[in-house]
Parts: sequence; C-alpha cells; structure tokens
Amino acid sequence: MALEDPVIAPAPAAAAAADGAPTRFACFVAGTDTEIGKTLTSSAMLYALVRRGVRACGMKPITTGRVMRNGELHNDDADQLAEAGNVSLPQSLTTPFMLEEPAAPHIAAALEGRKIDPVPILAAYLEIAALTDATVVEGVGGFRVPLTDEYDTADLAQQLALPVVLVVGMRLGCINHALLTVEAIQSRGLKLAGWVANTLELEFNFAEENIAALEARIPAPLLGRVPRLSQPSAAAAAEYLDFTRLPNWPARPTK
Ligand SMILES: Nc1ncnc2c1ncn2[C@@H]1O[C@H](COP(=O)(O)OP(=O)(O)OP(=O)(O)O)[C@@H](O)[C@H]1O
Ligand SMILES: [Mg+2]
Repeated sequence: MALEDPVIAPAPAAAAAADGAPTRFACFVAGTDTEIGKTLTSSAMLYALVRRGVRACGMKPITTGRVMRNGELHNDDADQLAEAGNVSLPQSLTTPFMLEEPAAPHIAAALEGRKIDPVPILAAYLEIAALTDATVVEGVGGFRVPLTDEYDTADLAQQLALPVVLVVGMRLGCINHALLTVEAIQSRGLKLAGWVANTLELEFNFAEENIAALEARIPAPLLGRVPRLSQPSAAAAAEYLDFTRLPNWPARPTK
C-alpha cells in the first residue's frame, strides 16, 4: 500500500457521542485461514445486531466462486451475510468484486482481466455505512491474502480503519496462526477488538489447553467458544458469542 492511497479516517467514538450523534458499530472480521468460520461469525454478529433492533448490513468486498441463479450472480458468503442482515443493498455495494473462479483473489481477478481496486471498495463501504447503523466486513481468506501484486487484505483492513475481530479455527497449528495474525493486525496499527474460538473438527485434543494458551497471549477479549455445530447457522453460533465488549456495540433497545 502506498502512502498516498486512500484511508478512511476512523470517527472518534467519544467525539461523536459528545455531538449527540449516535455512534455506529463496524468491524472487520479476519481469520487465521480460509474456511475457518469468518462467515459464520460475521453472520452471527449480524444476527445479534438485528436482534438489537439496528439496521445492520454485511459486506464481503471480494468473493471468489460464483454461480448464476435466476439471472443473478450468487456467492455463498455474500448470500449468507445478506440473509443475516436486515438492510438489503445492491450487490455492487456489498460485494464490489464477485469473481468467478474459486481461487486466490488475485488469480481469480487476473483470469477475468480485472484488477482488484481499493477505491470502489472504500466508496461502497462509505455508502453502506451511510445507509446503516452497523456494518460487518468479512475479510478474504487469511489476513495477508494478496488482492493484487502490491496490495493485500491487510492493506484493505488498514484503509477501512476498522477494529478487527479474529476468528481462530481451533485445530492443531492454530496457536501459531493466531499469534502471527495478531502480530500482523497490530503492525498495521489496527485495534484487535476481540477473538472467537471456533471449533471445526469433530475431535480436537487439548482444545481447552489451546484456548488457555491463546487467552494468555492474545491481548483482546475472547468473545466466545463456538462448538462444532450439527447445523451451523447464524442463530446457532450467536448462542455462544457475546459481542457486547466490542467498541460501539449497540445498547439493548430500551422498550
Ligand atoms: N462451529 C462450526 N460448526 C460446524 N460447522 C462449521 C463451524 N464453523 C464453520 N463451519 C462450517 O465450515 C465451513 C466454513 O465456514 P465459513 O464459511 O464460516 O468459513 P470462512 O472462514 O468464512 O471461509 P472463507 O475463507 O471461504 O470465507 C462452512 O460450511 C461452515 O458452515
Ligand atoms: Mg467466508
């Protein structure tokens, strides 16, 4: 990322509150890898936001792997986020880059003769933010997944300037993956707002010991442990997660 590249300046929460303007919730959901529960966690977060009565929308700026259904392009992640939120916005905003090939994003983009450009992504994010009270942005794969030859997912998170929630897929090797990702998040000057222990495997020995090792080393609250769910869904995962410690999480409706 070059210095002159765009960055969305974070709105200072205290200043917004002092103005009497409602603070809005937004975060970037990163993962220790691909297929470890980012969409499940993002959907659970949207589900919990909707239950709080706020206008919530998910964004997955870049997806790979799409199908045509009823004359419309679809991607599983984009569909799951749309289903969990309660503000329906055009796909061109929620997923500016819906790529066809289920491959690494820079490869999928090159196959279509496209280049992933941060400008439409940041513009779409601002538009979504203006139309909602809460936005959950799901990252792509692991935190350092390349998006072009000179730009990656961490650069995107940095430009969005959002607090990061890290989803750790609990399996052998997860401690190393998690700690490397935490370092990468911190080195970008981003706030690590919380992390989730998501159980993917039927049997993972010493799960508690692994979680304890992570808790001792990750300088952010554990938002919950999601067990392996027989029927994974936003609602089922939300049962195990407490998002109330995230910055600007909306208060319960008073009525
Ligand atoms: N706790 C769980 N219990 C059962 N299944 C799970 C659990 N967490 C995730 N899964 C399943 O694992 C798969 C991958 O999860 P998910 O799509 O949330 O991962 P992801 O990190 O978003 O992947 P990607 O990198 O492709 O975006 C999905 O089929 C999901 O339903
Ligand atoms: Mg996903």
